Amino acid sequence: MTKKLWGGRFAKEIHPLLEKFSSSIATDYRLAECDLIGSFLHVHVLFGAKLLSRSEFLALKKSIKELLAIVQKGAFQYDPAAEDVHTCLQNSLEKKAGSAVQKLQTCRSRNDQVVFDTKLYCLKESVYLHQVLLDLGKSFFFLGKKYAGLIMPGFTHLQHAQALYFKDYCGAYEAMFLEDASRLECFFGRLEITLGSGALAGTAIPASIYTSEIKKALKELRLNDPLYEILPPKNSLVNVSDRDFLIELLSALAIVGMHVSRFCEDMILMSTKEFNFFELGDEFCTGSSLMPQKKNPDSLELMRGASGILYGNLVAVLTTMKGLPLSYNRDMQWDKQPLFSSLDIVRYECGILAQLLKTIKINKDSLSAQLKDESLYATDLADYLVLKGVAFRKAHEIVGKLVQHSLSKNIKIKDMSEAELKQFSEMFNKSDVLKRLDPVFSVNLKKSIRRK
Ligand code: ARG
Repeated sequence: MTKKLWGGRFAKEIHPLLEKFSSSIATDYRLAECDLIGSFLHVHVLFGAKLLSRSEFLALKKSIKELLAIVQKGAFQYDPAAEDVHTCLQNSLEKKAGSAVQKLQTCRSRNDQVVFDTKLYCLKESVYLHQVLLDLGKSFFFLGKKYAGLIMPGFTHLQHAQALYFKDYCGAYEAMFLEDASRLECFFGRLEITLGSGALAGTAIPASIYTSEIKKALKELRLNDPLYEILPPKNSLVNVSDRDFLIELLSALAIVGMHVSRFCEDMILMSTKEFNFFELGDEFCTGSSLMPQKKNPDSLELMRGASGILYGNLVAVLTTMKGLPLSYNRDMQWDKQPLFSSLDIVRYECGILAQLLKTIKINKDSLSAQLKDESLYATDLADYLVLKGVAFRKAHEIVGKLVQHSLSKNIKIKDMSEAELKQFSEMFNKSDVLKRLDPVFSVNLKKSIRRK
């Protein structure tokens, strides 16, 4: 049986069913690098507090560094029978550093370790995803720029609303992903990683030793970036028992997923035969095993569907945490599966989207055919009457009647005579009306946007 970090108080071995159910190594092995960094800081603290001899300190440091290199290379063999990643690494260290490892858990609890590891992991991942989201925003910007003068119909309620520049449509998604990036920046900017909470009440080592020794250790690991500031806790109880940081990250990731899902839905819809605005590259579609003609946007559907998992992961941790008495409870072990699941999904989504954008073909003919729909310019006609002194509500009514007339008599506004137009308002003049039925004129009338 794999050695545990506890056991003296027990007369019987753990039940095999509980042993399996409670083991987290299959999930939390991903925290190994962070756990070893934490151990490295902790041995510095123990040495600073004179709880290790110099030779014990050096032996531990050397073994931790060696193990860290193996883990970073992806060459470490995790013991599937270990209770968790902390136990697994400690057992491996024992083989390398010998008896000094017996002192490693002095003033340290897995309750503190697991939160340290998870926070450090979240920091690294969110810093990475922040950059990925900035890049994704840029990809949307460049897609819009590539088709700078292109105009498309814009929708509300999925009905034709007003003409839009395609670059502004792309700009909407650019803005969403930049906002998502800034949410992550706020997240990691505020994240406080601490060491020294013990099991819940703190440890006997003075905070000043933690502060100075952690600084030295981080320098030695070349992690002396302000981003990696690690201090003793302001409150040890909250540190071991709250997972608000993780919920915040899951929430930011769920929002990314929601944005991704909306874009996917837009593309799915607008690449149907009915719309025929866009076509996705073959490399992001799949076929049907039965219908030979099919080219299905599975990549988009999978990403749209994954939003359900991202929301579920957020709600799972919120629900697990609700009603837990202070401080640490083992329930919290269930936080890592949702965390890793959401991080992996968002990583994939951003990577796929950035590539997929490069493959989108635009069917300009379909777009311009739709731009012939005069209802897209109805608001511009109302605004025209406003400029002539008609109150907007009245102008709205007049143009509404004009549109209704056009539909019921099956005659285009552009084909109506001046006299016919004047039946709706004396202010109408044929050449001005024609000007306003033009998409370029229409989009250029909109001036409230702060363009870059
Ligand atoms: N695997 C545990 C977790 O993820 C580590 C902490 C265990 N602490 C304990 N007191 N049993 O939360």
